[in-house]
Amino acid sequence: MSAQIWVLGGAGRSGRTIAAQLARRGLTAVLVGRDANRLRAAAQQTGSETLPAPSLAAAAAGIRQQRPAVVISTIGPFTATAPEVVDACHAAGSHYIDLANDVAALSAVYEMHDAATQAGHTLVTGAGFGVTATESVVVKLCGGRPAPVRVRVDMVPSIAMEEGTAGEALIGTLLGSLDGRRITDGRLAPARIFSDAVSLTLPDGSQVTTASMPSGELLAAHRASRARHVLSATSEAPSSPLVRAMMPALSTLMRWERLRSFTTRHLARVRVRAKERPRDHSWGHAVVGWADGETREGWLRLGDAQEYTGAVPAEIARRLLAGEGRPGAYTPAALFGPTLAESCGGEYLLY
Ligand SMILES: NC(=O)c1ccc[n+]([C@@H]2O[C@H](COP(=O)([O-])OP(=O)(O)OC[C@H]3O[C@@H](n4cnc5c(N)ncnc54)[C@H](OP(=O)(O)O)[C@@H]3O)[C@@H](O)[C@H]2O)c1
Repeated sequence: MSAQIWVLGGAGRSGRTIAAQLARRGLTAVLVGRDANRLRAAAQQTGSETLPAPSLAAAAAGIRQQRPAVVISTIGPFTATAPEVVDACHAAGSHYIDLANDVAALSAVYEMHDAATQAGHTLVTGAGFGVTATESVVVKLCGGRPAPVRVRVDMVPSIAMEEGTAGEALIGTLLGSLDGRRITDGRLAPARIFSDAVSLTLPDGSQVTTASMPSGELLAAHRASRARHVLSATSEAPSSPLVRAMMPALSTLMRWERLRSFTTRHLARVRVRAKERPRDHSWGHAVVGWADGETREGWLRLGDAQEYTGAVPAEIARRLLAGEGRPGAYTPAALFGPTLAESCGGEYLLY
């Protein structure tokens, strides 16, 4: 097998950031994507190689044929793309990493644990800011202790946006994660989306409001803590009470596949303006409560959330190439522990 790392969707926002982070670790990426010109432009910035593939099926065929050591997929929505890419990785014996951050996509990869274990390779899902930043704090707070009763995780990303279109990968993923969910009595249960709003005082003294959103963080925090009640929340929830009130109806509408595809295609083409980072740091946050009344709170302080989304898959790829992983399907901190986040520039603040 060759020692290459392939980045699918290599010309996209995450693909370029991952390639830059691989280069910082002395690793060369092969950027795989649909547009040869955009790929070349992206590759020039990092000395990466390029492999044009006109479709996901062509990229999967390339994996089967050329058997890269590690495949990092940035092509969301991962519920739609992961089965095909993971199948190709199984056939090629490649390790697989993705940036999924919704409940359905994480669940689907977890279900492949036994197959990956038998095949002797590693699947890492949720290797982006949201899952890794919050899961890492939970692992840090819960390590070596009995299972807590309650966990709440909050993600507070700070991202500079470049001008351009949002793209189908991002919009498809967002529209696919509008169903309210939380862990109640140890099970995934329906819940109202964008509820349980709290005003958090960040360690730097500033304030932010977060509200519930059933992302991959929910499952990762549940697995890391084994708590009976888990809630995941985000500062990216809409603050308007009107929008929040409309969410249940919108999430029902988005269950219709054809309507969701149409809306995804339309919104993906809308141009967004360049935007500066709203605050100096991004934060992962967790509050953990035990049956004896003890409560612990922890933060992970990071810089730009998109940079971190580049660093995490790059660091995981480096560790997998060095033989530091183990076969099976995992989220990042479940596989490599809380030090992974520190290797990617994070700093813990525990209370
Ligand atoms: N877990 C986290 O915290 C986190 C953080 C950031 C991003 N993400 C997820 O990562 C994904 C990528 O986000 P992004 O901001 O990097 O998006 P992006 O800039 O649009 O990049 C996505 C890439 O995927 C490619 N692509 C999209 N649909 C494809 C298809 N059907 N076949 C082949 N290639 C396809 C695009 O190719 P073209 O260049 O040819 O259009 C593009 O290069 C999203 O699902 C997002 O939700 C997760």
